[in-house]
Amino acid sequence: MAESVDVRDRIEDLREQVRYHNRRYHVEDAPEISDAEYDSLYRELEALEGEHPELVTPDSPTQRVGGEPLEGFEEIRHSVPMLSLANARKVEDLHEWDARVRRLLGDDESPRYVTERKIDGLAVSLRYEKGRFVRGATRGNGAVGEDVTANLATVRSIPERLDDDPPEVLEPRGEVYMTLEDFEKLNRRQEEEGKPPFANPRNAAAGAIRQLDPRITARRPLKIYLYGIGEGGEGFESHSRMLDRLKDYGLRANPHKLHDSIESVIEECLHAASERESLPYQIDGVVVKVDSREQQLALGSVARAPRWAIAYKFEPLAGRTKLLDIHVKVGRTGALTPQAVLEPVNVGGVVISRATLHNEDYIKEKGILIGDTVVVERAGDVIPQVVKAVVEERDGDEREFAMPKYCPVCGEPVSRPEGEAVTRCVNSRCPAQALEHIIHWSSKSAMDIDGLGEKLATRLFDLGFIKDAAGIYDLKAEQLVPLEGFGEKSAQNLIQAIDRSKEQPFSRVLYALGIRHVGAVTASLISRRFGGDDLMDGADVERLTEIDGIGEVVARAVVEYFDLEDNRDLVRRLMERGLDFEREEDGTTDGPLSGKRVVITGTLERPRSYYVERLEAAGGTFTSSVSKNTDYVLAGEEAGSKLARARELGVPVLDEAGFEELLSS
Ligand code: IVH
Repeated sequence: MAESVDVRDRIEDLREQVRYHNRRYHVEDAPEISDAEYDSLYRELEALEGEHPELVTPDSPTQRVGGEPLEGFEEIRHSVPMLSLANARKVEDLHEWDARVRRLLGDDESPRYVTERKIDGLAVSLRYEKGRFVRGATRGNGAVGEDVTANLATVRSIPERLDDDPPEVLEPRGEVYMTLEDFEKLNRRQEEEGKPPFANPRNAAAGAIRQLDPRITARRPLKIYLYGIGEGGEGFESHSRMLDRLKDYGLRANPHKLHDSIESVIEECLHAASERESLPYQIDGVVVKVDSREQQLALGSVARAPRWAIAYKFEPLAGRTKLLDIHVKVGRTGALTPQAVLEPVNVGGVVISRATLHNEDYIKEKGILIGDTVVVERAGDVIPQVVKAVVEERDGDEREFAMPKYCPVCGEPVSRPEGEAVTRCVNSRCPAQALEHIIHWSSKSAMDIDGLGEKLATRLFDLGFIKDAAGIYDLKAEQLVPLEGFGEKSAQNLIQAIDRSKEQPFSRVLYALGIRHVGAVTASLISRRFGGDDLMDGADVERLTEIDGIGEVVARAVVEYFDLEDNRDLVRRLMERGLDFEREEDGTTDGPLSGKRVVITGTLERPRSYYVERLEAAGGTFTSSVSKNTDYVLAGEEAGSKLARARELGVPVLDEAGFEELLSS
């Protein structure tokens, strides 16, 4: 009996601690403990709950992810309607709005304003009862939304419990969104998995929230900013006070600024417009609100928008233009990517004349025709995309796009394997691939040939000086000197940089070969088991998949690569030119990490290779996927599924400091 009380207490204590650190990390962006420490708390909680399933409660932080797929969403009527906002498109609109507010309030009541960023995501309403998260809904039509509780429960910045004595019922409202970085990563993953990419972060966030399977939502990195309260929001004397209280409750409140005049508000709007493109997430304007609750009540609402707030909307980062043609670009791996050739259009200050159309299926699904008026969108540094066709503007002269049957560069037949979205040119001598391959070969993460960037590589390729990667090593200073922009010195420098690249280890060479599915990490795994000769002599799928972290698909790609005579010829010529094809040491050194398998994931302070080297010097082995045999996971910022998997399996997670500590132990 006494034991079960102790266990109960310990579980509660652990839950409190995990919740607290979740808040520090996900809500306040200010973690106090290392991931390893967090992990140890979380694992202890999980273990105790495992031993005492009767003590598991739905609000335990361990219960966040999971839940079975739903058949559909239930409808939820909002207890207080979710309003929309009137728009201001010009500075004059803000002056007019200010004048109206002042007129309605009477002269002696000068309003104070609050500004917040208008986040371009999906509006949701959360419901906490007695401080517990019980329900979450989409905005829907403002009166009725959809019950997306299970999905919102997977969003890390939505706490399952509130702190600091919240009211009995509290309905915080805000915007669920995805950062641009996470959006790009997600789209890369979508394409790799042959799934259609999302047009923009808002669609990706909305798509994630409207998933019937919460486990899929859990894999989408969503965040929330809260900017209002439905039920439970009546008692606050001002909007700014309410936002501060949201923070006290442990919620991620949208940052705000206070202003005593409309001039100051306008200054903020213009400032926000100028910094918009440097933010990590998309905003489409600034929301201006009257701060005083009393004044808000006096002003009231018209239609479904309050008179006390207005949205200053930026120029959209979308524009309409004509799709003149669709060109097909051939990449390094031979992938054919359709590219929109557009009538140049100014989208938020940048003139766009090219945009991606991803692949054949994307064009079909969107029903886009050549000659259509289309909507193009751009966001930050993300490649502009054609989002949709404006069907009403058709005049009958439009025509369908057909993926070419022959490579537009080399004229050889292309192929699109069953179940894949990508069409490829499989001719390894295709000049388009050859040039892209040369560019990849000399890039920083591959052979790192200083000075041989995309521009120069293209020029030397067009001149016929370099035909493939091996040709780089035949280049002579005398060939370069007469070229515009070159002198004796710079020609020598380039030749030296090329020579230096011969010192790169085999793992780099293997990566630089540009074998499909073989990234830097995979190349490093293979290079420790096989040397160039072994691969040339016929490493088979079975032996390759024996390497921890190498699956069928990768193994097959490697075997296919070394089967093709053209590739074998290239490898032979690279060997003749002195490139390193020697198998690498496989980290059997004695040290504090002898025999330990470590996975490295996320963005770390230094290049990944640094940690791999340190790890191997300490006797550890670097592996690429997390399994129950993994001893540690070193996780940096934005670590995704590997970190989640580690937590799931109870594998200790380290940050950089934890890693260094381990090395010095
Ligand atoms: S306040 C009563 N604040 O904009 C006012 N809305 O057009 C209700 N939005 O549906 C909204 N950021 O999805 C408010 N800081 C912010 C916002 C914001 C984005 C969205 C929200 C709403 C739409 C209104």
